[in-house]
Amino acid sequence: MCGIVGFTGTRKAAPVLIDGLRRLEYRGYDSAGIAVADGEKINVAKVKGYVKNLSEMTHDGADIEGVLGVGHTRWATHGAPNDINAHPHMSADGRFAVVHNGIIENYAALRSELTARGVKFLSDTDTEVVAHLLELYYDGDAKRAFMKAAARLEGSYSLGVVCLEGPGRLFAMREQSPLILGLGVGENYFASDVAALVPHTKNVIYLDDGEFAELTPDAVTVYDVRGREVVKPVSRVTWDVEAAEKGGYEHFMLKEIMEQPACFKATVEPRIQDGRIVFENFDLSEAELHSIDRIIITACGSAGYAGQVGRYVLEELCRIPVAVELASELRYRNPIIDEHTLLIVISQSGETADTIAAMRECKARGARALAIVNVVGSTIAKLADHVIYTWAGPEIAVATTKGYTTQVAVLDMLAIYLADRLGLMEKARYDALIEALHSMPGKLQRALDLNRNVKKLAKMFKNQSSIYFIGRNLDYAVCMEGALKLKEISYIFAEAYAAGELKHGTIALIDQGSLVVTLACHEPLFEKTMSNIEEVKARGAEVLAVALEDNKQIVSKADYFLKVPRTDPILNPIAQVIPLQLFAYYIAKERGCDIDKPKNLAKSVTVE
Ligand code: F6R
Repeated sequence: MCGIVGFTGTRKAAPVLIDGLRRLEYRGYDSAGIAVADGEKINVAKVKGYVKNLSEMTHDGADIEGVLGVGHTRWATHGAPNDINAHPHMSADGRFAVVHNGIIENYAALRSELTARGVKFLSDTDTEVVAHLLELYYDGDAKRAFMKAAARLEGSYSLGVVCLEGPGRLFAMREQSPLILGLGVGENYFASDVAALVPHTKNVIYLDDGEFAELTPDAVTVYDVRGREVVKPVSRVTWDVEAAEKGGYEHFMLKEIMEQPACFKATVEPRIQDGRIVFENFDLSEAELHSIDRIIITACGSAGYAGQVGRYVLEELCRIPVAVELASELRYRNPIIDEHTLLIVISQSGETADTIAAMRECKARGARALAIVNVVGSTIAKLADHVIYTWAGPEIAVATTKGYTTQVAVLDMLAIYLADRLGLMEKARYDALIEALHSMPGKLQRALDLNRNVKKLAKMFKNQSSIYFIGRNLDYAVCMEGALKLKEISYIFAEAYAAGELKHGTIALIDQGSLVVTLACHEPLFEKTMSNIEEVKARGAEVLAVALEDNKQIVSKADYFLKVPRTDPILNPIAQVIPLQLFAYYIAKERGCDIDKPKNLAKSVTVE
C-alpha cells in the first residue's frame, strides 16, 4: 500500500525521491507525488497513475529545485485516486507539505473543526487535516507545531513533513505504520520500506510507535512523543540492492519462485547447529512449554494457508490441538484464549492491519505470541513475545511465493523442535528430519527443474473460466495456496476443496471441460484421492495431477501431471507448491496479466 520517502542532503532531492518511489512501486498504488523545499517555497509535483508519469512530468526530477523533500505513492482510501487527492498535501500558507501512510481515524472531526475556523480543504483525503493543523499550531517553531499536530491525530499513520523554515526542515513520524530512517554520509533519508533505502545506505534506525525524527544532512535526531531526545540503536540491513531488483527475470514473481531453494537454505541452515534445531528468540522454559494446552495460528491470505500446513504438522508431531483463525475474523470474535494458549502469528510484511489487531486482542487475553515474520523491525515483530524471522529477503511481487515457503519451513522446524522438547520424538526420527531439512534445497531445485511442461499446460488451460483444486490432509492445505496464487494473478476463478467434501455440493459444478487440479502426494490417503479423481472424471472433468515423481499408479488415471520430488512427508508441501506457483505464473503470463502488480491488490495490507 502507500509508500513514503524522504531525503535531505546537498544534491537535488527530486531525482532521489523519484528513484525511491520507483523502488516502492511493488507495494501497489494509484498516484504519486513529491514536495521539495528550495529555501523560498515548496515545489510540489503530483499525478494520478504511475511514478513514470511523475518522472516524465518533472524530467526525472531535474525540473525541481531544492535539496530536501518528501515523496509518496498513494493507494486510495479516503477520496478517489486523482491528481488532487495524491500526496503531498500543503498547508494553505505554503509552509508545510505532508505525506502520510495509514488512516487518521478522527479526520472527520478534525476537518469540521478546521472548516469552522475558515480552512478551505482542496482534497477529499484524511491527510490534508495534518497540513492545516501544522499551520494552525505554527508559532515560529516547526518542531513544536509538529508535536502539537501529531497529538491531535488518532489512528495508525506514518508521516513525512517538509517545513519551509530556515533552509527547510524535515520530519518523520511513526504511529503503528512503518517508518525507517536511513543514515548516509552528508545526507539522510527515511522511507516506509527498507527497499527505498538500500541503494543509499545499510545503516538504519527503526522508529517505534510515537517516535518522530528530525533529519538534516549531517544529523538525525529521534524524539519521543513529548519531544525528549531518544538514543536509538543503529541496525544494519543484511540484504543488498540486487536482492530488490529483477536480476534478468521478466517478473519479480518468477525471480522469487526461482530463489526458493536458496531462501529455504537461508531460513533453515543457520538454525541447525550440531544436528539440533536452535531458535534465536524462542526460549520457553520447561514449565512454560508444558503449560501450553492449545495453539492458535492467526494470519491472512497465503500466510494463513501456510498456517494450515502448520496445523497438520504441529498436531501430528506435537499432539497439541491447533486452530487456524483468519485474523480478520478472530479480531472481532470473543475467542477462548488464555495464558495457556500459544498464539502463532504469521506475516511476511509484519504490517498487516487485521493480523496486528487479532494479535493485540489475543495478547490482551493472556496468550503468548510467537511471530513468524519476514520484515525485520516490523510492527508484528515488535509486538510479539518471540520472533522467528523467515529471512527470505525482500519479497517484491505482490503474490507471495518465497514468503509462503519460508513460513512453512519455519512452522515445520517449530513442530520438530516442540515435539522433541515435549519428549514426543524418537532420536532416529529427529535425526532423519534434520537430514531431510538439509536435503530440501536440492529437492526444491528439483521441483523447479522437473516441471518444464508447465508452460505447455498453461497455454492449454489459459482460457479456462474456473479451475478447482482438490486434495486431502496436507494436500488440501497446499490446494488452498495453489488456488489463491492462480486467482490473484490470472483472475481465473479458482477454489480449493477438501477432496472428500466434493460430493456434498461442489461436484454439482463439475462437468465436461472442467479442470480439476488434484494434489495426490499425501500417501496415506492416496487411494481415497484416486477415488475422487474417478468421481470428477466420470462427470467429464480433466484432471491435472500433482504427484510424487516416482508414483506410477497415477499415470493411468490423470490426464496431465506436475511432478514433485519425494521428501519427508511432512516437508512435502514446500515442494508441492512450487509447480502450482509456476502453473499460476505461466497462465497469468499467457493471459497478459500484470503479474507483479495484480489489479486491486497491494503488497502489504496496512488498512482494515
Ligand atoms: C497472496 C498474498 C497475501 C498475503 C496476505 C498477508 O499471495 O501475498 O494473501 O499473504 O495479505 O500478508 P502478510 O504475510 O504480509 O501478513
